[in-house]
Amino acid sequence: MLKTRLIRIAVASVVALALGAGIAWWQLDQQRTARQVGSAGSSLAVTPGVPIGGPFTLTDHTGETVTEADFHGRLMLVYFGFSSCPDFCPTDLSIIAQAVDELGPAGEAVVPVFVSVDPNRDTPEVLASYVGLFHPRMVGLTGSDEQIAAVADAYRVYYARVPSDDPDFYAVDHTTFTYLMGPDGSNLLMFPHGTHPERMAEAVAQHLPATGS
Ligand code: NI
Repeated sequence: MLKTRLIRIAVASVVALALGAGIAWWQLDQQRTARQVGSAGSSLAVTPGVPIGGPFTLTDHTGETVTEADFHGRLMLVYFGFSSCPDFCPTDLSIIAQAVDELGPAGEAVVPVFVSVDPNRDTPEVLASYVGLFHPRMVGLTGSDEQIAAVADAYRVYYARVPSDDPDFYAVDHTTFTYLMGPDGSNLLMFPHGTHPERMAEAVAQHLPATGS
């Protein structure tokens, strides 16, 4: 339907504009502490001491309560978004899944994690069917508005619901970085939207524990 298409185009435009503003703000905030690494310059390495990450209490896609401690000892690739996102989230979650698979058996030390910034719609049940579309080991996390606000704040993630007349059809603009978290929960790297999966895998591989093989 033309009307539906026009609405989608309008929403996508607003999301893109708002996202651009959010990212510009975020990058201004970050540029003193981040430096580009890699030949293609497509990943950002955060210098130690930058406070990204930290304790959280959330609900996973199976309905279990989880905290950051449940992931200690493993690496996490963390992405914040919402399951009805038309483009950014599916693109980046596919990249994360491809990067994890690219690592082969060593990739099992990496947990792909999707944190919803739309907890009202993204129930554990919704996330269960969503994350499975991307990777069998992807963990979906949701929570109360307060819990999501707290974890977004800890990761310095920007998100905001776009005003809409339809309570069931709205967009949420959000930061589109992927965060690589170390075995102790500290931030190691962050990748911008659209990073090539092979480049993400190469960067993550440098942080995997030695396998001895
Ligand atoms: Ni999204």
